[in-house]
Amino acid sequence: MLCGRRILLIIGGGIAAYKSLELIRAIRAEGGAVTPVLTAGGAAFVTPMSVSALAGAHVHTSLWDLTTEAEIGHIGLARAADLVVVCPATADLLARMAAGLADDLATTLLLATGTPVVAVPAMNVHMWDHPATRANVDTLRARGVTILEPDVGPMACGEHGPGRLPEVPAIMQALRTVLGRGGRLAGLHALVTAGPTHEPIDPVRYLANRSSGRQGFAIAGALATLGARVTLVAGPVALATPAGVCRVDVGTAREMLEAVDQALPADLAVMVAAVADWHVRPSAAKLKKDSGPPTLHLAANPDILAHVAQPGPRRPRLVVGFAAETDNLAAHARAKLARKGCDLIVANDVSGDVMGGSENEVLLVSAEGETALPRGPKAEVAARLVELFAERLGV
Ligand code: C5P
Repeated sequence: MLCGRRILLIIGGGIAAYKSLELIRAIRAEGGAVTPVLTAGGAAFVTPMSVSALAGAHVHTSLWDLTTEAEIGHIGLARAADLVVVCPATADLLARMAAGLADDLATTLLLATGTPVVAVPAMNVHMWDHPATRANVDTLRARGVTILEPDVGPMACGEHGPGRLPEVPAIMQALRTVLGRGGRLAGLHALVTAGPTHEPIDPVRYLANRSSGRQGFAIAGALATLGARVTLVAGPVALATPAGVCRVDVGTAREMLEAVDQALPADLAVMVAAVADWHVRPSAAKLKKDSGPPTLHLAANPDILAHVAQPGPRRPRLVVGFAAETDNLAAHARAKLARKGCDLIVANDVSGDVMGGSENEVLLVSAEGETALPRGPKAEVAARLVELFAERLGV
């Protein structure tokens, strides 16, 4: 999935440029974001208006665009992407890339970026077969650029052979593969819950807790960085979705359970959410203060962690729960491990400033024993935790 991924799409000047519009739609349909760049040649085949409308973003065309330069600068544009895609990559664009030219916005970005580059060539069969193009392709591949093989078939110029732009699903698959490449968790699906749940009392009031969702979001991001496909089921929080993460927003515990069920199967589940233990049957009308304090009849919420950890074919290989405790951390965590049926409990002491704060200090409890992790920012704790999860998964 390209969910949450930022793609810088450079559209070169070839007849296949119109297919890049379809690619933009496919990337966005998977939740990816596209920043489009049109070369002068590209703009001769597709209009900036079409590209911008489909991408839902400003289209960049010139190195000398003062507005862009004032806002982020072209180097910033190169950095703010998870992947650069050149589609179509014409013979000329490949030659300029191979030569290291920076004579327009596209080639300047390609020189300035440190992110992986995928080039999708499309050109006349003789141009593709020409020794100059072959040499340029070899040079670029040796530098780590992923260059797709063009399709074989009839071409717009009337010839037949290799040179056609690959079909969009094939391009999409290549983008997914490159984005997840190299990570320990590549090919695995991770399910994460985060944040509080809100249990409505009436249309304006609800029961909730202090969870900010930060630790869960950091874990979701760390899992994506290791190459996992991540589904993050988030309660109501004011946090940006980490790059590469597919987010499903929910309100109540029962909605969270439903979203979790829909996201399964998963290889690993990390239940970080501070799920409300109880809900009330909400009043359809706002409760009036004049009627006196209401009596709330609380009913238990489903235990999502215990549900996911139940033995069976849909059980993830690794199920991790969290325990927010104010005393007897290790003892409570061990009891929870058994009660919930999970493989690991990440216990934290919430008697201080952890809940809603930016730092955390956790104790990892499994059937084999306990490991204390040093206190640190939640992102660091997340990075350490996911490495330990990967170890437990044996990857
Ligand atoms: O039962 P307790 O709330 O102490 O357990 C905490 C762990 O269980 C956390 O991992 C939390 O996400 C999970 N949980 C859950 N559904 C609930 C209550 C807790 O998934 N209803």
